[in-house]
Amino acid sequence: MKAIVFEKTGDPSVLKYVETPKPELAPGTALVKVHAAGINFADTFFIRGEYMIKPRLPDTPGMEAAGVVEAVAPGVKDLAVGMRVTSITLKTYAEYCLIRAAQVIPLPDFVSFEEGAAFPIQVLTAWHMLHTAHQAGPGQTVVVHSAAGGVGIVAVQIAKAAGARVIGTVSNDSKSALVRQYGADEVINYESSDFAAETMRLTGGRGADLILDAVGKPTFEPGLKCLAPFGHLLLYGRAGGAPDPLNVFRLFEKSAKVSGFVLPVVYGTPGLMREGIEKSFQLMRERKLKLLIGKSFPLAQAAEAHRFLQSRQSVGKLVLVP
Ligand SMILES: NC(=O)c1ccc[n+]([C@@H]2O[C@H](COP(=O)([O-])OP(=O)(O)OC[C@H]3O[C@@H](n4cnc5c(N)ncnc54)[C@H](OP(=O)(O)O)[C@@H]3O)[C@@H](O)[C@H]2O)c1
Repeated sequence: MKAIVFEKTGDPSVLKYVETPKPELAPGTALVKVHAAGINFADTFFIRGEYMIKPRLPDTPGMEAAGVVEAVAPGVKDLAVGMRVTSITLKTYAEYCLIRAAQVIPLPDFVSFEEGAAFPIQVLTAWHMLHTAHQAGPGQTVVVHSAAGGVGIVAVQIAKAAGARVIGTVSNDSKSALVRQYGADEVINYESSDFAAETMRLTGGRGADLILDAVGKPTFEPGLKCLAPFGHLLLYGRAGGAPDPLNVFRLFEKSAKVSGFVLPVVYGTPGLMREGIEKSFQLMRERKLKLLIGKSFPLAQAAEAHRFLQSRQSVGKLVLVP
């Protein structure tokens, strides 16, 4: 089969489109013919050797894929050849990948393969930040940083569906209109203006009840300044670099809370995982959540896709199609 393989860690130029053996079924798994593989910002850390899961060289990137079950290991129940599925797994930048039966998400008919590839990581991250790590609801103001990005554009919609007022931040004005179109009440260009001052102004001096921050270094410290009393700053990434260490006494000023979030903690808790999946698909059925596939690349162009993601020009989800 064709797959993307890297033999050394580094920038996107290490990604090569090569012929490799098809993965062999292991106990408890199914073999899936990949129709679309999701690209995540974490993949750019993975190929540099800077992600929490380290590559075992030579390795294949990719943490999620949607496709059709082609073979099922003996003894695996509830999975059959021909099923349309998506899953969080590994080595998905390929024509075929293995998925663990316990982690399979059957795809409803109304969800395309590309949308399926956009679902497991970005949708469930956004849903669980807003409903598990926090309880977003009416009367709250939620700031979503990098709001036009993969997780961001989903978080904007899920926060709106929960009844919150949403302020999105973006790095250029062309993204602003898009974020408004997906439901944000206000959008701030955080490159050309001081988002903390703007957030205070837009909330009449009260501040934000929740800030979803995956940018890190440039946004974390100003975020502390624009929290509402009892506000919550949730850090879940570091696209702009790791934030400076926090002096916890800063939290006293507003009785504020700072927390971290990683999705793997959720999928270690099957009941929670199921709830997020069901409620997110329900939002999609009700058209309160629309998945934006910003661009679809042929699998062979994985390196170009990574460069595009890091250029800050991309919006929504990027997918690879074998
Ligand atoms: N903790 C978890 O479980 C979890 C799960 C999924 C994703 N994440 C994190 O969530 C973030 C979003 O992931 P994603 O896959 O959906 O990517 P994405 O949002 O589509 O792309 C990253 C965005 O970060 C913003 N950004 C800010 N500073 C940047 C810089 N110096 N270089 C590049 N981009 C920068 C850009 O938006 P602007 O140009 O508008 O600023 C860019 O579009 C990432 O930090 C990722 O690691 C965490």
